[in-house]
Amino acid sequence: MVFSQPTILVTGGAGYIGSHVVKVLQQQGYRVLILDNLVYGHRDVVETVLQAKLIVGDICDRKLLDRIFAIHDIKAVMHFAAYAYVGESVREPVKYYRNNVSGTVNLLEAMVAANVNKFVFSSTCATYGVPETVPISEALPQNPINPYGASKLMVERILEDFDKAYGLKSVCFRYFNAAGADPDGQLGEDHTPETHLIPLVLQTALGHRESISIFGTDYPTPDGTCVRDYIHVMDLAQAHILGLEHLLEGKNSETFNLGNGNGFSVRQVIDTAKQVTGQPINVVESDRRPGDPPILVGSHAKAKAMLGWQPQFAELKDILTHAWQWHLKRHGYAFTVATVQVASSESYQKEQILVRG
Ligand SMILES: NC(=O)c1ccc[n+]([C@@H]2O[C@H](COP(=O)([O-])OP(=O)(O)OC[C@H]3O[C@@H](n4cnc5c(N)ncnc54)[C@H](O)[C@@H]3O)[C@@H](O)[C@H]2O)c1
Repeated sequence: MVFSQPTILVTGGAGYIGSHVVKVLQQQGYRVLILDNLVYGHRDVVETVLQAKLIVGDICDRKLLDRIFAIHDIKAVMHFAAYAYVGESVREPVKYYRNNVSGTVNLLEAMVAANVNKFVFSSTCATYGVPETVPISEALPQNPINPYGASKLMVERILEDFDKAYGLKSVCFRYFNAAGADPDGQLGEDHTPETHLIPLVLQTALGHRESISIFGTDYPTPDGTCVRDYIHVMDLAQAHILGLEHLLEGKNSETFNLGNGNGFSVRQVIDTAKQVTGQPINVVESDRRPGDPPILVGSHAKAKAMLGWQPQFAELKDILTHAWQWHLKRHGYAFTVATVQVASSESYQKEQILVRG
């Protein structure tokens, strides 16, 4: 691999979003170092697909961080490492404040000590809580309703203070629902446990789950189910390159929403998944869950204006097709590909179909 660009430390680069960003960074000529404790990350993905240097370690380990910054000429840090299960954060807030807040402060301190002053941070739309209006712009008040969202907001505030005190420049990206997979089929979403709608729907299509639950069918939305903003992971990755370039050009700290701009309902996701997979998907309709706002859709006008970013995979069908491709490859052991004779109007032809094994 030829590296024409500087070295970037990517924490959490063995995880879902981080691994996609690493792939795009490498395509752009950046040398990448991944720091991941592999609590949720996948070593095989780093070793077989990314072939990036993987340091198995923790952002809470200050000595390790100091060693990494001393040995490598790191120009910027992209920080994906965090815990991100909302329900767990309510039950075990300490775990979230320790990893997401203390761990990040540890990393930022090590950066300041090593004179590394460019930082790209994974924040979240969960910092807005239940927004007063949609689409959500960056200017709306941030009132997180769970410790996960609060932990990310705390880091945003800490970054403002680090900029003023130490000149550490940052780009904070508040993601909406990351979804989809690498269109080449090499990378994708593989969380255990899985809580995100699209992978759960696809696991149901694969026959690994009995059914998918819809929580609430009486919301004030066109079909009564919750509407969310699904942003393709490759579009997120592209935005990270632009955010990094913004910092490398010496520009100021900024915060951007990263959303598709379009909302899709739970029923739309399930119906599109049925089309894309050609499989039946059992649905169980349940009561609303407390704390689920009817509609969460972001405005990405600021990222478009300042970074020139525009989602390339805004269609739900593309997001689901790429995710399905990945799920079949990674988890599709319940299926085999069979070549069968099928009748068309003019003649018989051979077609490949998926059958349950
Ligand atoms: N997935 C989404 O829809 C979404 C939405 C908004 C924000 N985010 C944020 O984006 C980031 C990445 O999310 P993801 O979905 O890729 O999650 P992920 O769990 O797939 O990736 C996180 C990675 O960080 C690693 N990690 C966690 N704690 C660590 C520590 N202390 N030291 C070293 N490594 C550690 C994990 O092993 C994992 O590989 C997170 O910060 C998350 O809060 C995600």
